[in-house]
Amino acid sequence: MKYRRAEEADLPRLFDVFRAALNAYLVPAGQKGIPEGDDQTPAYRHFLRHDGQRLWAAEAVVEELAGGGGGSLGVTGRQIVAWGSGLLRDDWWFLSGLFVLPEAQGLGIGGRLFELAATGAPPGAVRATVTDSLQPISNTLYARRGLLPREVLVEIGGEPRPGLRPPRLGRLEAEPLTTASIPELREIDAAASGVDRSVDHEYYLTVSGRRGWLLRRGGRPAAYVMLCKDGWIGPVACVREPDMYTVTAYAIAELAAIGAGKVRSGVTGRCEGAQRALWEAGLVFESTPGLLLSSRPFGRLDRYLAASYGMF
Ligand SMILES: CC(C)(COP(=O)(O)OP(=O)(O)OC[C@H]1O[C@@H](n2cnc3c(N)ncnc32)[C@H](O)[C@@H]1OP(=O)(O)O)[C@@H](O)C(=O)NCCC(=O)NCCS
Repeated sequence: MKYRRAEEADLPRLFDVFRAALNAYLVPAGQKGIPEGDDQTPAYRHFLRHDGQRLWAAEAVVEELAGGGGGSLGVTGRQIVAWGSGLLRDDWWFLSGLFVLPEAQGLGIGGRLFELAATGAPPGAVRATVTDSLQPISNTLYARRGLLPREVLVEIGGEPRPGLRPPRLGRLEAEPLTTASIPELREIDAAASGVDRSVDHEYYLTVSGRRGWLLRRGGRPAAYVMLCKDGWIGPVACVREPDMYTVTAYAIAELAAIGAGKVRSGVTGRCEGAQRALWEAGLVFESTPGLLLSSRPFGRLDRYLAASYGMF
């Protein structure tokens, strides 16, 4: 087994490994599988750009693992069979991906990539990740290494019920969010997740194509909302918890107004304001719950909606 940093040319292959590793347990469990069509490479490229020292691949000769066959991807010879990546933002480290092809599992590769994905993380950093509660192996792997389940993360989605009214914003004033406003989001992030996500905001607003709003109260940044074209709501953050309901309802109404169809979001159990807005819009549970694991609690997650499960 050879471990090396991943490179640009590897990115499409990382998607193939991601899809095969997930579908091997999701599909037999009756869950929705990951479809063909690589929509992940732009995110992997962002990892490479900002966290390249934490994006690692494991290579092996496929026939040696698969007993002579082509393995789950039908390819032969020396190939990437697993990869792992971590984001480091100040003293917050987040395991953004860890995927091992089925024929390479149980050989210690996941454990080794977990360590490599933390390259450069200070010893005192918070360590966190998001898992699928359906997956006992990953949850055990992380818990044994000190990342304990802290929060349930439920995916709520569906078509908002017809006739949904936009919420009253009161003293909140919404303006379109551009990359020029990113420095102002630090104040909001400091109050919510507790992590400066400036480099990620740039990715969300440019490469990922999210639309966003900055909401001010009395001129001061009070909240931000970002929405994906596919109806995903997040990231969303508020300085004050009572704004979370209003801001989430605003996001749902914006998506409904452009005829986005289905909307979705991943919400922690403690984020009651966002949950209320999503349930009131007539949405439903979309999948088995995720779990947020961390080495210690961080931020105030009653006022934060994740950008994705892979980036939090
Ligand atoms: C989760 C995953 C990354 C683990 O990788 P792996 O290479 O199989 O794991 P390792 O061989 O390094 O084993 C890691 C731990 O899991 C345990 N483990 C491995 N296979 C297991 C099994 N079938 N049942 C229970 N525990 C198992 C090992 O004992 C080991 O524990 P330890 O190191 O604390 O002693 C891999 O199974 C995978 O890609 N699964 C599908 C995708 C996924 O769920 N990724 C995680 C996203 S959050």
